Amino acid sequence: MSDRQKTRARPNPRRQIAESYCSILNEGIRRRSVLKGLVAGLGGVALAPLLSSQPAAAAGGGSLSFNELERVRDDRDHWPEGYDRQVLIRWGDALFPDSPAFDLATLDGKAAERQFGYNNDFTYFMPLPHGAATADNGLMIVSHEYASPFLMFPGLTDEDYRDTLTDDQIRAIMASVGLSIFEVRRADGKWSVVLDSSYNRRIHMGTDMAISGPAAGDDRLKTKADPTGRAVFGTISNCNGGITPWGTMLSGEEGAMDVFAGDYTVLPNQELVERQGWDEEDNDIYAAGRLESRLRFEDEPNEWMRFDWVVEIDPLDRSAKPVKRTALGRFTHEGAQCAVAPDGRVVVFMGDDDDFEYLYRFVTRDPWNPNDRAANRDLLDEGTLSVAKFESDGTMRWLPLIAGEGPLTAEAGFASQADVVLNTRAAADLLGATPMDAPEGFVVHPQTGKLYVAMTENEDRLAAGEGDEAEQVNAANPRGPNPHGHLLELVPPGAGDKPDYAAETFRWDVFVLCGDPAVAEDGAMFHASTTANGWFTDPDNLAVDPAGRLWVATDGPPPEGIADALYVMETEGEGRALPKLFYIPPVGSECCSPTFTPDGTSVFISIQHPGELRMDDNEDATSIADIGTLWPDFADGMPARPSLIVLSRNDQAVVGS
Ligand code: FEO
Ligand code: CA
Ligand code: CA
Repeated sequence: MSDRQKTRARPNPRRQIAESYCSILNEGIRRRSVLKGLVAGLGGVALAPLLSSQPAAAAGGGSLSFNELERVRDDRDHWPEGYDRQVLIRWGDALFPDSPAFDLATLDGKAAERQFGYNNDFTYFMPLPHGAATADNGLMIVSHEYASPFLMFPGLTDEDYRDTLTDDQIRAIMASVGLSIFEVRRADGKWSVVLDSSYNRRIHMGTDMAISGPAAGDDRLKTKADPTGRAVFGTISNCNGGITPWGTMLSGEEGAMDVFAGDYTVLPNQELVERQGWDEEDNDIYAAGRLESRLRFEDEPNEWMRFDWVVEIDPLDRSAKPVKRTALGRFTHEGAQCAVAPDGRVVVFMGDDDDFEYLYRFVTRDPWNPNDRAANRDLLDEGTLSVAKFESDGTMRWLPLIAGEGPLTAEAGFASQADVVLNTRAAADLLGATPMDAPEGFVVHPQTGKLYVAMTENEDRLAAGEGDEAEQVNAANPRGPNPHGHLLELVPPGAGDKPDYAAETFRWDVFVLCGDPAVAEDGAMFHASTTANGWFTDPDNLAVDPAGRLWVATDGPPPEGIADALYVMETEGEGRALPKLFYIPPVGSECCSPTFTPDGTSVFISIQHPGELRMDDNEDATSIADIGTLWPDFADGMPARPSLIVLSRNDQAVVGS
């Protein structure tokens, strides 16, 4: 979800870098290798000026030789010279030979189900066959996280759309979120969608799904339409995700509460509704409560519990029913990144994208079977869910969330593992997990074995000694408030050789503190050679390319005049933590989930919510009349269209080099 959407109701930032920040630096951050020998010697004064005294990397340090973009904020997108940018598919484009042409005047649920959806976020290129190094043919697996009805249909405004949407428009919106899976092919340097592929598929709120794991069959998941508590209709708010070693996709449901309507105070467990992210202003966002009684609390008190899980989807088998894997916990799932421990158990790393929420990990009980895909079908139903606790000495521990262990007693409300997964955040509270600054991107670096995690920002983080202790700065979230976010580096034992992602204890470090290094109050920390174009704020999606470089896509609200964008840097050597600005989407967009062909010659990027901010004042657009851009068509009568683009070098060499 766009960070601007999430923060709409939040108070103004308190612009103050707490005094305590320096003492926390002395505890923890000076271990950070980019700064080694710097902060220690200079004793915790404003950091940005210090960085300029840091020994610079060798000129051109690192392998990134593209010409860095100049910052610009306008209604177009921008990419480096020597590259070709192709719009591969837009909202409303065909996914099947019989897809109707995109026509806003007649768009309904039936048409939208045959077309590419709105606000694409998670994006993954899976070579065909799965596991091959094919670079010219693969599946695109894409999530459509949310829709903004008043930016889709002419004549609606953010104030009146719930009342003025037609029923067909509501059905179209509900069919425009979810996921798209489709085959793509490259010929003569140009990519195209294979419309008649047997893989092509749309998944949305009308798709039959199963519920498995500890909460399956629980009374709290039973509804009038599903008295078993084991079958659910659809998925929604599909944010980022991940790919399992056996080639299924894990989709994080993030913020499904927004879709529900009515008076939640009729429910027995209101505390959980509030903790899960209820917002009086921003519920029933698609007006779908008008059409579907299950989405109204008064009519169906349990339906909301059947969302905000991780959904496993098999992109290679169109007939396979998606499954909500409850063992991975229920919270605001940003994504689900997979790694394999040396003994073959699969480890899924997950962020809970809300202020003061946690990082989680799930370790399967059994190893995966590389030789028998079907044997992995239910692997994610048995295992251990844990939550992260960071120590100021540079260690972190994964604390298991197991009913009956430690404080998770029956008296505390955790008599069964179903209780734990249905109320994951409260269980994590009891274990003393470290509240983070809205964790989003999580990525495993396949060459070094390290992990990177993006904390987007947290305006409400408090200075040491202020207010609730859980909301005060801590070693891993050292700035209060933290309007710019940061990246952490997690190091499992054996990293670089045989990383043990299932180990109880990792080491950690701050990799980057975001913000403008030229502004002292930002307290930013990047490599000293970072240019005025290269620093960033609000990191969201992370990806590692085949050459091992870390890509960071940001999700504002950016400072005055700066657009969200895509940056790339190295994680080791001279170019460590030295980002360069690679791509700028049109105003109001977030560029999500860069994903690469195995040879690194093309990068696919999702352009989400183009024009959501107005061009003139950077405030939320309220209708198509004041939308920030009409990208990519710029045609009369056509709104901005979220799209999937692909960038390749004109000489077909590796992107970024
Ligand atoms: Fe869907 Fe957390 O952004
Ligand atoms: Ca986002
Ligand atoms: Ca995100």
